[in-house]
Amino acid sequence: MPEAATLVQLTREVLAGHLPALVAVDDEVRAELGASYSRERWGGEEFEKDLPGKWDLSVLALGGSSEVCAFLVASEKPGATLYVHRFAVKPACRGRALGFTLIRALAQAGVARNLVRMALVANRGNSAALGFYRSLGFEDAPGLSPPDNQRLEAATRRLARL
Ligand SMILES: CC(C)(COP(=O)(O)OP(=O)(O)OC[C@H]1O[C@@H](n2cnc3c(N)ncnc32)[C@H](O)[C@@H]1OP(=O)(O)O)[C@@H](O)C(=O)NCCC(=O)NCCS
Repeated sequence: MPEAATLVQLTREVLAGHLPALVAVDDEVRAELGASYSRERWGGEEFEKDLPGKWDLSVLALGGSSEVCAFLVASEKPGATLYVHRFAVKPACRGRALGFTLIRALAQAGVARNLVRMALVANRGNSAALGFYRSLGFEDAPGLSPPDNQRLEAATRRLARL
């Protein structure tokens, strides 16, 4: 875990206290990467949406002054699967293992809930994210997704031990 960053479970209460900052980080990353990050803007409604297991699984990383450095929104899907809906590290906080720390924390929460795999969809133009996921052991997975997207999966037990 990088110095001066704290992982916090993204409960409804925590979300309420950090919502404008989360939307601002998401907007910053969309401005940076465009559609290779996401075609959709996430505002309050998207962050607040209720999904199975979401408030137990999602995480936030806060810096030394409690500023939002990174977030990961996940939920439980059929097939004992942890699904990553939205995940970003603020540009100023990258390269310090924060992304890795959030994925590992999610995997550990998934193992505790008997979820066997972590899945997500990344845009094929998002080379940084694809390199990141592959370095953690994610592999291409079959599944219906638009041609410019790649579905990736990894075993939660393996990620939890990284
Ligand atoms: C992808 C992302 C989450 C990585 O976060 P990060 O905190 O910088 O990554 P980490 O420091 O934890 O990196 C862990 C490992 O991933 C790999 N990695 C990280 N960034 C990489 C990059 N740009 N290219 C290739 N590999 C990379 C490295 O192997 C790294 O290990 P190392 O530092 O020992 O070499 C971050 O770049 C990001 O937020 N991108 C924009 C949002 C986004 O694309 N989200 C995913 C949507 S599907």
